[in-house]
Amino acid sequence: MQTNDLERNSMDVLVVDDEHLSRKTLGLFVRKLGHRLLSAENGLQALKVWAEHAPRVVLTDWSMPEMDGAELCRRIRDREGGTYTYVIMVTARTDANDLVAGFEAGVDDYLTKPVRKEELYVRLKAAHRLLASREALRELSETLEKKVEERGQELAKAQHQLILAEKMSAIGQLAAGIAHELNNPINFVSLNFQVLEEHLPLILEVLTAHRRAALAPPGSDEQLDLLDRARRLDDESSLDLISSEVSSIFQQSRDGFQRVTAILNSVRDFSRTDSREAFVFSDLNKGIRDTLVVAKHAYKSHADIVLELGDIPHVECISGQINQVFLNLIVNASQALAETGRSGKGMIRIQTRRDGEHVICAITNNGPVIPEDVRDCLFNPFFTTKQPGRGTGLGLSISHDIVVRKHGGRLTFTSDENDGTTFRIVLPIRRGVESEVRHE
Ligand SMILES: Nc1ncnc2c1ncn2[C@@H]1O[C@H](COP(=O)(O)OP(=O)(O)OP(=O)(O)O)[C@@H](O)[C@H]1O
Ligand SMILES: [Mg+2]
Repeated sequence: MQTNDLERNSMDVLVVDDEHLSRKTLGLFVRKLGHRLLSAENGLQALKVWAEHAPRVVLTDWSMPEMDGAELCRRIRDREGGTYTYVIMVTARTDANDLVAGFEAGVDDYLTKPVRKEELYVRLKAAHRLLASREALRELSETLEKKVEERGQELAKAQHQLILAEKMSAIGQLAAGIAHELNNPINFVSLNFQVLEEHLPLILEVLTAHRRAALAPPGSDEQLDLLDRARRLDDESSLDLISSEVSSIFQQSRDGFQRVTAILNSVRDFSRTDSREAFVFSDLNKGIRDTLVVAKHAYKSHADIVLELGDIPHVECISGQINQVFLNLIVNASQALAETGRSGKGMIRIQTRRDGEHVICAITNNGPVIPEDVRDCLFNPFFTTKQPGRGTGLGLSISHDIVVRKHGGRLTFTSDENDGTTFRIVLPIRRGVESEVRHE
């Protein structure tokens, strides 16, 4: 509404003067110049009117009983919010010190007594100009703030989507790997099934011939013929061979089914979608074993795994997320080994142990040393040294967020020629344990 006032070139102007005549004259000028008039006899009264009507301009006398113009201005400055009040001091004083004191109190402009209408016109015009540009600036900064906030939200959304996309692509790769792992046992079960399927009709035929021979009159030609046929079928179908293989066929198939079940159990325990956000005391050693099953396809051609899992207590954590961290670190280690271009396989050693109120898990590989100049960026989102399409650079930043922010733990690394590269996860056994973490 006040902005509209400014647009119409007319403003609410509060005239403050303890002298009746001066107040009247000034008020008359204000009206004649097309503005709306409010008036007060002293500083205190003026403050009340100002609080109630929020005039855009205050024209105030300097010397007044109870509260002078400078004090009135100071109080207005203390109390005004987003809408600025333009204060013009009407005074007979021309001493430079007084002028400075007035400006320090927050006065915007001066008019000397006696006031001429033309001069008031010019000063009010200047006031209008300044108020209008302040208003425009305020609107601009509000629009800008809104824009910045919108951009921030868009960015957060984009980042969230990227993280989801990263998870989806990781899940996609894992799914392909798991499908491959399941393929082997399912293949030999299916081959064994084919063998049984091919031979079963022959076995049944031999069996039928024997049964019919048994039912024929003993010693009759018919019985001899049937027995003869049964023997021939027996030879043709290499029944001896089949019966010697049957038990191994069943044994192999049983192994295959067990392997499939073990993989599926690991996949289920690895992702634990039912308790994704819940803190539960969990067996990290089992988490590591499950992760190794799930990620096998990613590391098996680049690394031999050395497991040195210590006797550690269950740790209060969101197990699905900690497994995600194990996975990221194991995949990173295996990718680092793949990059060495050496002929044989490298080694990934996974160790767990207890350290006071914490459990430490160290994942080491004997791949290339991490160069000094990238060490500070490793945990930054989107930092990657991998080919486009191979890495999004989110693995370590997500892992850091899970270990440090969500679990109150630490995720650090060391890398040198002799000991290889080790990523170390330190997790409090119970939530909220802030005790000192000792280092090896
Ligand atoms: N074990 C390691 N040895 C050497 N360098 C590593 C190792 N782990 C991580 N890095 C370096 O840190 C970078 C960031 O790792 P991060 O897991 O965050 O992303 P990424 O593996 O490149 O991509 P993403 O995990 O999203 O697929 C890697 O590109 C690599 O340069
Ligand atoms: Mg990674």
